[in-house]
Amino acid sequence: MLTLDLDLKEKSYPIYIGENLLKEDLITQHIKGKQVLIVSNTTVAPLYLDSVKDLLNNFEVCECILPDGEEYKNLETLNLIFSKLLENKFDRSCTLIALGGGVVGDITGFAASSYQRGVDFIQIPTTLLSQVDSSVGGKTGVNHALGKNMIGAFYQPKCVVIDINTLRTLDKRQFSAGMAEVVKYGLLGDIDFYHYLEKNINRIMDFDIDIIKKIIFSSCEAKAEIVAKDEFEGGVRALLNLGHTFGHAIENTLGYGKMLHGEAVSVGMLMALELSRLEGLITDMDVESGLNLLKNCNLPIAINGKIAFEDFISSMSLDKKALAGEVRLILFKKLGQTFITTNYSKNNLNKVISDFCK
Ligand code: NAD
Ligand code: GLY
Repeated sequence: MLTLDLDLKEKSYPIYIGENLLKEDLITQHIKGKQVLIVSNTTVAPLYLDSVKDLLNNFEVCECILPDGEEYKNLETLNLIFSKLLENKFDRSCTLIALGGGVVGDITGFAASSYQRGVDFIQIPTTLLSQVDSSVGGKTGVNHALGKNMIGAFYQPKCVVIDINTLRTLDKRQFSAGMAEVVKYGLLGDIDFYHYLEKNINRIMDFDIDIIKKIIFSSCEAKAEIVAKDEFEGGVRALLNLGHTFGHAIENTLGYGKMLHGEAVSVGMLMALELSRLEGLITDMDVESGLNLLKNCNLPIAINGKIAFEDFISSMSLDKKALAGEVRLILFKKLGQTFITTNYSKNNLNKVISDFCK
């Protein structure tokens, strides 16, 4: 097992990464009270709920099984968790455990941040995307019909347990979606990691467990380093949103769940590459390189559906990075080096959007 520490002073926590970790008791040392609510969904619970429950024999354990899907990441589903906590008289010393992908993790973390003004929670991410990104760093929340992840809180877990074996039951499309966030770390700030991915992409897609462990570790390491510097996204953390302003607009305008989050991010990163090219920042070959790597991850390189240009623009303007009505974007200085800016040609932006919305 590998352990990484996310250094946030008194809010610091370990990220455990390895195989068969659901069979090891890593969590009870992070639980201070007696009451534990495991939150999962209808797909993940039949696979892994019993393993987690087996670790918790000495606790009063309840479960809350949510419907599965991005379209359920909303206030109504959040309320199911609150009802379960209240019906079972959970007090302030309770702990919530998120067992599932990013949807379960984000919603459970948000429930923990606000139940009785804040109770402990633990992340057990079971998708590649949640293992390399969403379970680490404390962004929690739900979607609104008008905007993705618009209601939420920064709220850190007590630990993150990444059992790579859980990826064996994940379908290939979901695995590819997670690869979008892995590629993101290379593109945004680590060209060596990017080249490593290029070199090993066939082995990764063939599920070579040693390489997968390495890319999960490197991704979590990169994210932990950035979050430790900038927990509340005042600066450098914004780079982690590479492709996300475009991606969130795709998810929101197509309808949540039509394209997976990672798929939308894949297209969003290509839009950022293309805009950077039009701005004269990077070359045709750079865009081609990004496109090929994403293709080799079996990720989409175009929007899967029709979006009206005006709808895309209107959804983008609601982005959380927008300041005083200006959409701030993450663009490239070169592959492996990004920056946040409002200083780009609106004509170029419009061209990219209309090309991708065709
Ligand atoms: P998801 O949670 O919807 O999971 C994808 C699918 O895989 C679901 O059907 C789920 O039930 C299933 N699943 C999960 N684990 C499985 C397993 N081991 N075996 C079989 N099936 C399994 O999607 P996701 O890609 O994990 O997460 C996407 C969400 O994460 C989005 O809502 C996105 O906004 C959010 N996100 C948050 C952050 C953050 O920093 N908080 C970062 C990136 C993404
Ligand atoms: N997924 C972006 C962030 O955590 O900041």
